[in-house]
Amino acid sequence: MIKKINDTVQLHNGIHIPRLGLGVYKMTDDQETLQAIKGALSEGYRLIDTAAFYDNEAIVGEAVRQSGINRKDLFITSKVWNSDQGYDETLRAFEQSLTKLKMDYMDLYLIHWPVADKYKESWRAIERLYEEGIVKSIGVSNFKIHHLEDLMTQANTKPMVNQVELHPYLSQQELRDYCNEQQIAVEAWSPIARNRLADEPVLNQLANHYNKTVAQIILRWHLQNDVIIIPKSVHLNRLKENADLFDFELTADDMAAVHAINKNQRFGADPDTFDF
Ligand SMILES: NC(=O)c1ccc[n+]([C@@H]2O[C@H](COP(=O)([O-])OP(=O)(O)OC[C@H]3O[C@@H](n4cnc5c(N)ncnc54)[C@H](OP(=O)(O)O)[C@@H]3O)[C@@H](O)[C@H]2O)c1
Repeated sequence: MIKKINDTVQLHNGIHIPRLGLGVYKMTDDQETLQAIKGALSEGYRLIDTAAFYDNEAIVGEAVRQSGINRKDLFITSKVWNSDQGYDETLRAFEQSLTKLKMDYMDLYLIHWPVADKYKESWRAIERLYEEGIVKSIGVSNFKIHHLEDLMTQANTKPMVNQVELHPYLSQQELRDYCNEQQIAVEAWSPIARNRLADEPVLNQLANHYNKTVAQIILRWHLQNDVIIIPKSVHLNRLKENADLFDFELTADDMAAVHAINKNQRFGADPDTFDF
């Protein structure tokens, strides 16, 4: 079990990914973003999850350089956006992301959403980048089981990661079981459902019992489910709170109680019907 903030898990290609990272979606103010990322890095976070769509890759790169932390000790993820999918388009989009980051490789590159009729071509391009060694591991995001099965009918390399919406109201048990069988690591986006579960009674009971916050109970539940987490915050106190997860452990009964509040409820788009 994870014991400290920068513990890692090994992906199926042997690369280690931190179990806890910082998501930077909706970080739009440059100075605030810079301070948040540098604050997270100084607190021990080593994974930063960005995307071309977030329009802050340049600031991510800047924060990394200003932190003085050795590049090889960091894990940087970005993603190809929907309008850039296709073989040539994905290669171009990757180059642009890398240029904005001012880095010479990426640790993880993901297909952001499964754009029908395009994602297989995007994947072929991403496999090429992987074979060239310019990205150390590759994966997908918002892929359901049928998307993964379809992709794997022609993939040479199996995705190492699937990043999906995942929190106690959308526990994704079937998808997680499938990914476990396939050795595809699951990474949760909106891991605390953007704090929408703050009033949920079961989570509040556990928070009171362990003298933790609801966010910490949820994040600990993810870790004990072997899920990688990338909570976003621009506030240093919350960055600390979201990483202060290693002095308590949920029991099997607690885990079951959290599982029981699942509603299969998405707050984000459904990967089968998204339109952007
Ligand atoms: N692949 C995809 O399609 C996809 C989609 C969405 C997100 N993501 C990734 O996943 C990351 C995380 O998801 P998310 O940003 O949607 O949601 P999240 O991490 O579940 O929640 C972030 C929100 O909760 C607040 N917050 C953070 N810590 C808190 C705490 N301890 N107590 C109370 N409120 C807290 C933040 O506000 P403050 O910043 O004001 O603290 C922010 O509004 C994103 O940043 C992005 O990297 C990926």
